[in-house]
Amino acid sequence: MMRTHTCGELGRDDLCSQVTLSGWVRFSRDHGGVLFIDLADSYGSTQLVHDPEALDGVDQGSILEVLESVGRESVIAVGGTVRERVPGTEDSRNPTGQVEVLINSVNVLSKSRPIPFEIAEQKNSMLPGEDLRLRYRYLDLRREGMVRNLKLRHRVISAGRTFLDGQGFIEVETPMLTRSTPEGARDFIVPSRLSPGDFYALPQSPQLYKQMLMIGGVDRYYQLARCFRDEDPRADRQPEFTQLDLEMAFVDHEDVFVVMEGLISAMWKAARGEELRTPFPRIPFAESLSRYGTDAPDMRFALPLVDVTNVVREVPYEIFRRILSKGGVVIGVNVKSDLLDDQVGRNEVDRLIEWAKAQGMGGITWMRMTSEGLNSNIVKYFTTEVLRELTETMAAEEGDLLLFLAGPSASTLAGGAALRLKLSQDLGLVEDDDHRFVWIVDTPVFEKDPVSGALDACHHPFVLPMDPEDLDDDPEQALGFSYDLVLDGVELGSGSLRNHDPEVQRKVFHLLGLSDERIDEQFGFFMEALSFGAPPHGGMAIGIDRLCALLTGADSIREVIAFPKNKRMFSPVDSCPAPVNEERLNELQIISLAGDDFEDIDLDDL
Ligand code: AMO
Repeated sequence: MMRTHTCGELGRDDLCSQVTLSGWVRFSRDHGGVLFIDLADSYGSTQLVHDPEALDGVDQGSILEVLESVGRESVIAVGGTVRERVPGTEDSRNPTGQVEVLINSVNVLSKSRPIPFEIAEQKNSMLPGEDLRLRYRYLDLRREGMVRNLKLRHRVISAGRTFLDGQGFIEVETPMLTRSTPEGARDFIVPSRLSPGDFYALPQSPQLYKQMLMIGGVDRYYQLARCFRDEDPRADRQPEFTQLDLEMAFVDHEDVFVVMEGLISAMWKAARGEELRTPFPRIPFAESLSRYGTDAPDMRFALPLVDVTNVVREVPYEIFRRILSKGGVVIGVNVKSDLLDDQVGRNEVDRLIEWAKAQGMGGITWMRMTSEGLNSNIVKYFTTEVLRELTETMAAEEGDLLLFLAGPSASTLAGGAALRLKLSQDLGLVEDDDHRFVWIVDTPVFEKDPVSGALDACHHPFVLPMDPEDLDDDPEQALGFSYDLVLDGVELGSGSLRNHDPEVQRKVFHLLGLSDERIDEQFGFFMEALSFGAPPHGGMAIGIDRLCALLTGADSIREVIAFPKNKRMFSPVDSCPAPVNEERLNELQIISLAGDDFEDIDLDDL
């Protein structure tokens, strides 16, 4: 038998039992001839002790020799007796900390080379660099923090599955080798050996497959779907990631909200043991942009943005004048006096202005509300009437600090969003265990490219417009049945009702600038599927990596993925992407233009 117990199991109830434990030698220390070892596995750690005085009739010499010959992180199996720890040496933080195992036999299962970094749990600041952790990820995964993260991820996924199974959903797998479906990012493509010159695409999401499942009569589908997107990495983005993806037939958007809120609550409870309060609040997309400067607002603090463009339009303050004459906007934030401690004086405001400039904003204009009214070095440009209106619009009360950003609409709103976050951090407005969900609803079907003026899909091209007639009358104003779920300022998931009428779908494609030929070429198979009787349907996908990162408080989704890519989309543990040998490339009829060979290739021959 390899073990009678795990390393996280023994307690006072086991005193005097004969046990066998197997695990990794995490620590060993010699206290004047008595050797202590922490033996660890993914369940915990148990103190082993080799005590020559306590071992009668056992060949102590050979046990000690073996124990001294194995390095840290070697794998051993030990037999021994559970005994109480010497009073005063108990470890109350460790569940097995009341007992220890007196070793009477040892077997080395596998030896470890010297380890490149410390595995025993330590403060995050002591962690080695991320690339070193990812290079030896299998060692990093032994750390308590990573064990906790992987177990939490498992609980979340498992609770999601159980919930959806209970709601009549069935799990269906969809292909990894697919035809590219546009989701806004670049596809990873896979060359075909049997059809040289042709490529599969790895799915950015199973969007069209799940819609075809609905057409296929599958009433309620879900899948833990691996998705692949060749986009620039960020802390909350990986080139491959996991969605809990679902779709339902014969539903309206309220049905989707109810299922999603039940699902999220079940996963939250499994991870944290807490009940969530539902329904989650909903904010229309336009309000989210104007009030928080973003479609993924952090609702854990207030600090709403207020558009004061019209209030200050006539003010002869040069900076505002210049910006307003070019169609720009002025946006204010009222930092209420109770959020400001006495420390926030002129120096802090100056630092904030420098921060704003470093972020690419023009700067920040500020005013303070005093007992005599608004005060700052620029109030001389404002008439009493404008100051009164500004006080009213900003709901300014004595002691409040008003901050204003001015510039082109989109970048100033984005600046406002960044300023809210900066203030929340500087003023410590977010409580550690506070989490806020919010739905962003009433999203436009299209967004306009500011440079080309062309329409792009706001979510994706399959969203059902609330009123299909808008597509003819005023497509830019058309709102869609699409919704994003945001948690603490992070987009956790998004979904929509879909077009089940092929004519509406075709109209959307036309508005996106696709000719009938392009539609046939790119989406012919899907348009054909829609023409065979598609039920009204809708669904959503939750980013599991993002949800787990938020649940663990991790800074990056890499902390909840077993083998993630690093910030440069490289996998240090197995060094990929990596070159492929020429023979294989030839078989695929691919010529490499990279590296040294490039010079030798006559491009005219290609
Ligand atoms: P969307 O593209 O919004 O919608 O993706 C849904 C959720 O997936 C997560 N996500 C990511 N997580 C990690 N790394 C990435 N690169 C990444 N990209 C997206 C986010 C996001 O909210 N087919 C639609 C869903 C639908 O309409 O049903 C879709 O994929 O948490």
